[in-house]
Amino acid sequence: MSEKLSFKDRVVVITGAGGGLGKVYALAYAARGAKVVVNDLGGTLGGSGHNSRAADLVVDEIKKSGGVAVANYDSVNENGEGIIQTAVKEFGRVDVLINNAGILRDVSFAKMTESEFASVVDVHLTGGYKLSKAAWPHMRSQKFGRIINTASPAGLFGNFGQANYSAAKLGLVGLGETLAKEGAKYNINVNSIAPLARSRMTENVLPPHILKQLGPEKIVPLVLYLTHESTKVSNSIFELAAGFYGQIRWERSSGQIFNPDPKTYTPEAILNKWEEITDFKDKPFNKTQHPFQLSDYNDLITKAKELPKNDQGSVKINSL
Ligand code: NAI
Repeated sequence: MSEKLSFKDRVVVITGAGGGLGKVYALAYAARGAKVVVNDLGGTLGGSGHNSRAADLVVDEIKKSGGVAVANYDSVNENGEGIIQTAVKEFGRVDVLINNAGILRDVSFAKMTESEFASVVDVHLTGGYKLSKAAWPHMRSQKFGRIINTASPAGLFGNFGQANYSAAKLGLVGLGETLAKEGAKYNINVNSIAPLARSRMTENVLPPHILKQLGPEKIVPLVLYLTHESTKVSNSIFELAAGFYGQIRWERSSGQIFNPDPKTYTPEAILNKWEEITDFKDKPFNKTQHPFQLSDYNDLITKAKELPKNDQGSVKINSL
């Protein structure tokens, strides 16, 4: 049996922790010894209004169980820095940041206003940026940090009526992938999760028998695992729901390397080789890849040079 993963004296900041997923994270970290900053603006699902009650109730619950927590009511996109300052002022450091706060303004793209687009991107993506930016110098100087960005299947795959939300959510993945690289030498790990869980965000869109399976507590174990000091995983995306935990990764097709002759680079050559370009099966010279960084491309460039002349870009230029 492995040892229980303790968060004793770790300082954990969770945005949007007054309800839904953020609340269950807050209770779980506190139960394992963390000092928790419970941030929540306390607004509606669409992001209007504010209320300190949501965060206060979670802090009370933690304290009643003997845990340590403090409330913060700032808006992530307006005063992300203030949230991190609360952690530093109250507890002296910040070890774990869960970028979780979010709103929805679902509407088809044809009808979406610029304000509906911008407000959703602001809360999710700019909020994630502001918190990460404020936590970054602390994590760098203490040579320890764990960040979780909350993405969504809607961001990874797109979803009708959620152009604003999808853009923000995939933006958080990109932000996380770069922070993972810049944070590596400071022992700062950054990962993204795409959860599906029962909360006010999903209770009116999914049928009751599905919602029953989607307890938010099923999202907690992976988040705690990824943010533990002993976990080395970074630069990764995970999908989780209803007790399923899996990883999502990029895949590059084996593709087609074209002859270096400039005459080769025509739209007709692309048409001619479309099947090869989009082929996900390995070929003798080019294999499918699961790239993690820009330099993974070097391999392809090297291979293009190595290709025997008679195999290069088997594009039938003359027949185009
Ligand atoms: P929720 O609505 O219960 O929780 C979001 C919390 O964020 C709320 O308590 C809200 O008051 C707070 N919040 C909103 N704007 C804020 C701001 N500007 N500053 C501070 N706090 C703010 O929803 P849920 O489901 O718990 O969502 C948590 C995260 O998980 C969100 O980022 C959401 O987009 C994401 N997510 C949830 C999924 C689900 O199936 N529930 C699916 C995919 C992603």
